[in-house]
Amino acid sequence: MNGTMIAFSGKGGAGKTTTTAMMLRHLIRIGQKPILAVDADPNATLALTLGVEPGGTIADLRDKMGEAAASDSSVPKDRLMNQYLAEVLEEHDGFDLLTMGRPEGPKCYCYVNGLLRRYLSLLRHNYAVVLVDCEAGMEYMSRLVVDDIETLVLVAEPSPIGLTTIRRIYELSESLNLKVGRRVVAVNKVPPTGAGAAREKLAGLDKLERIIEVPLDPDLAGRCTRGEPVDAQAGTVARAAIDELTRTALGQAAVITRN
Ligand SMILES: Nc1ncnc2c1ncn2[C@@H]1O[C@H](COP(=O)(O)OP(=O)(O)O)[C@@H](O)[C@H]1O
Ligand SMILES: [Mg+2]
Repeated sequence: MNGTMIAFSGKGGAGKTTTTAMMLRHLIRIGQKPILAVDADPNATLALTLGVEPGGTIADLRDKMGEAAASDSSVPKDRLMNQYLAEVLEEHDGFDLLTMGRPEGPKCYCYVNGLLRRYLSLLRHNYAVVLVDCEAGMEYMSRLVVDDIETLVLVAEPSPIGLTTIRRIYELSESLNLKVGRRVVAVNKVPPTGAGAAREKLAGLDKLERIIEVPLDPDLAGRCTRGEPVDAQAGTVARAAIDELTRTALGQAAVITRN
């Protein structure tokens, strides 16, 4: 299997996790499988957003390996590592979930990040689609857990600051040596009054495949406030846009709707 890798990036609060969860729900709905969801944000919230129990993380593995090294275990390190990695890969209804977790310090960060990167490059071949909810901001781009992405979804609120951030992440993704098949902007939480000057603000980004507007969905906002998950019923207002985003991210042609 090829493992179509779709990564979600953008400023904190833009809606990366919600959009990842909504696309996952949509992929399940259309019968896409198997799917792997990866929470690569140290501030992990994808499990919570999906309403599943947060399990073990790649960051925990570091401690486990340390403990194993301290004991005189006869099991080879590689085998132990593979066993631990398999344990943190959680099976859920319709998808598997892998959580990076929060490493303790900068050095640990590189270690855990490297571990996730290596594991993912192997694991992606077991899945039809891999969705990666990335860390907020731009710094992570240089140490992105994936360097061969089919689609980079840049999620932004329709505000000048949100769109400026997206422009910078786009430019950074071009300057780094990343293999990115297509870049798509999801202008998220668009109010009924429209996305304002979002399209003009994003003008001149040559390799931008599409700009898709995802409406502000009161159900999604309400669920977050009430601590309810993005389940199969969530976000009916945003759904058509998520469908469009999913098609684009998978490289499928847009559906032409006739009146
Ligand atoms: N399309 C949407 N409509 C309404 N609220 C949304 C939408 N997308 C995200 N939100 C809300 O925005 C907030 C931040 O979303 P989240 O996905 O956690 O952002 P990020 O992962 O980028 O930090 C949450 O309260 C979430 O419910
Ligand atoms: Mg998030």
